[in-house]
Amino acid sequence: MKSKFLLMLISVVFFLNACSKDDNDAVETLETPVANAPKDVNDNGFKAKWNYVSHSKSYLLDVSTSEDFTTILPNYNSKEVTDLNEVVTGLTGGTQYYYRVRAKTEAQISDYSNVISVVTTGSNGIPEDPTFLKVKVNKLANPFFVGMAIKASQLTNGTPYDVILRNEFSSISAEYEMKMDQISTASGVYNWTVADKIVAYGNTNNINVHGHALVWHNAVPQWLKDFSGTDAEFAAEVKKYITDVVTHYAGKVKSWDVVNEAVDDNGGAMRNTIFLQRMGPNYVKDCFQWARNAAIAAGDTLLLLFYNDYATSTNIAKQDKVFAILEDLKTAKVIDGVGFQMHNTYLSPTKAQIETDLNRAVAKGLKIHVSELDIQVNQFNDISSFTNERRLAQKAKYKEMVKIYNALPAANKYALTIWGMKDNESWIPYSTELNHPGNDWPLLYDSNFAVKSSHTGFLEGLD
Ligand code: GLA
Repeated sequence: MKSKFLLMLISVVFFLNACSKDDNDAVETLETPVANAPKDVNDNGFKAKWNYVSHSKSYLLDVSTSEDFTTILPNYNSKEVTDLNEVVTGLTGGTQYYYRVRAKTEAQISDYSNVISVVTTGSNGIPEDPTFLKVKVNKLANPFFVGMAIKASQLTNGTPYDVILRNEFSSISAEYEMKMDQISTASGVYNWTVADKIVAYGNTNNINVHGHALVWHNAVPQWLKDFSGTDAEFAAEVKKYITDVVTHYAGKVKSWDVVNEAVDDNGGAMRNTIFLQRMGPNYVKDCFQWARNAAIAAGDTLLLLFYNDYATSTNIAKQDKVFAILEDLKTAKVIDGVGFQMHNTYLSPTKAQIETDLNRAVAKGLKIHVSELDIQVNQFNDISSFTNERRLAQKAKYKEMVKIYNALPAANKYALTIWGMKDNESWIPYSTELNHPGNDWPLLYDSNFAVKSSHTGFLEGLD
């Protein structure tokens, strides 16, 4: 009995001893540190921070200008630090950096922490690339039009706006002055003055004119909204408008958005517009057919007809519906291309989402117009001035869009149009549809006509 008890005691002591040994072993495995967001970011550096790792004696800090750390700054190449932070100095202003750490004991070095991205404040002093966009694009093996959304009031000869437009851009779209509510004042009555000025500017300066847009639910003239005739008479009014406008600009306007935004944002149904209500679901095809017939009757066999819409890269139900309409128009042989508006943000859509969307148009053999590109950086109203971090993020996103566009097959390229020249003239902060909560900087030029990094990003996207 006694010896049995002794044996049990011995095994318990042995067991406890074994457990504590195991515990010691586990403790000695060095954990991977977690790096934290920097503090005190300034023109020349920042304070890098990370969490404590048990038993570590020091940390090895790497700082790099590349996210994959292919090159590491000489002073911060596994720099040994005993604290939980390090003031990194001697950097360049307005530049993107990355850091990571490893924990260290006498015997071990841990795995690398997560990577923290930080942009120093100020300017890096490197001037933006002043090359004119269309000049670089026109040197490509398969060039395309570089478009700009304009207003007639901006086309005064010799102004900075006019000079930049003629230097850099090879296509124009009217921001709103060629829409139905601007041109049509009553049944069969037209005010051509402003639209004519825009078209003449393009024709005189050898700039392509893209017509935007014949039919859009947000630009229906009051007289047509109030139209009291039958549905067939309503359709006849729309036909007459399309016919007269296409005829008036035959040979002068090279392409038209025939229908803009016919698909709803929810669930991929047709948008419930006055055109759908009065003319039925075939109205899109009818409008294209009338535009085509008018062009041919006026002797213009080269006019390109586009369907234009937004948010198709992220809204897949909408994308599917748009492509069903495009298929229908293709079968009827009345369409040449599709416009993807691309009112994007520095976070969305992703490269893959854009490519998937555009590649569906390539598969259909359609010309592709990136028709209204702008890239918001303050969609959450979390910045009150244009920060370096957003400047670089926007540059990268413009570069990505241009790269995707330029990689399209030659036959599918048409134009890449930017929706406005200067940040302070963009529609984004004022849009009631977008409900944008604050200021933004979505374009290629600042309010003083200085090229932004987004412009340099556009150029880099062509490389
Ligand atoms: C839509 C339309 C454009 C224009 C913008 C806002 O994207 O297609 O014509 O009205 O909204 O500038």
